Amino acid sequence: MDPRFVDIHSHVVPSGDDGVQSLAEGLGLARDAFEHGTRLLYATPHVSPALPLTEERQHRIRTAFDELREQTPLELRLGFELTPMASFLAEDPWRYVLEQTEFVLVEIPFVGSAEVFLEVGEWIERAGLTPIVAHPERTEAVLENPGLADELAGRGWPLQVNASSLLGRHTPEMERQGWRLIDDALAAIVASDGHRATRPMLLDDAYELTRTRVGEERALRLFDGTALGLAAEPTASQTPSRVALPGV
Ligand SMILES: [Fe+2]
Repeated sequence: MDPRFVDIHSHVVPSGDDGVQSLAEGLGLARDAFEHGTRLLYATPHVSPALPLTEERQHRIRTAFDELREQTPLELRLGFELTPMASFLAEDPWRYVLEQTEFVLVEIPFVGSAEVFLEVGEWIERAGLTPIVAHPERTEAVLENPGLADELAGRGWPLQVNASSLLGRHTPEMERQGWRLIDDALAAIVASDGHRATRPMLLDDAYELTRTRVGEERALRLFDGTALGLAAEPTASQTPSRVALPGV
């Protein structure tokens, strides 16, 4: 049986960021993901100093998400991807949770230190939630100090590696670091971070490479959501309607 992928990181809902720019583009990306094995997909619009989640933006995102969810053949859930900023600390992190989980997706800034990231991660923990570290292999802080990734995993913060990193779509250093996190069993999950048709999901290609490298059992856990207590329902209907999933 083909694996059913759970993808906790994508920019498939138009939200004013650098992800898809229209519902039609988002639907194309979601359908492509479905055809390549994804069954549960999180839309995670960026929330950053340049793009805070104002009530007006949140409303627009929710409206677009609801429309897209009705049309996609896969189970679509909403979350966010936080870029660390001090102003989060005055908010309630539950606002940003990955729907139906107790996780919040946070990236380490691509450039610069992880100082504010650590503060934001601890803010998430104080609310009884767990931060998931988005693509650590793509960040200067980890590339310059790989031990930081070990430390974060040691805190119990799941590390999410990008499929695109494993496929060498970024830099050789990011590709090496991504595989290091897989080989050393530091990575908890692989996700797409898919943004647009030219930066698609690629989970099936990354899964095949991972399966060859670490075996089917370990590879499945990195791609099917079980490591995070998430799993897509076994039905693989082509019907373009929402697939009901059991609670997590
Ligand atoms: Fe992202």
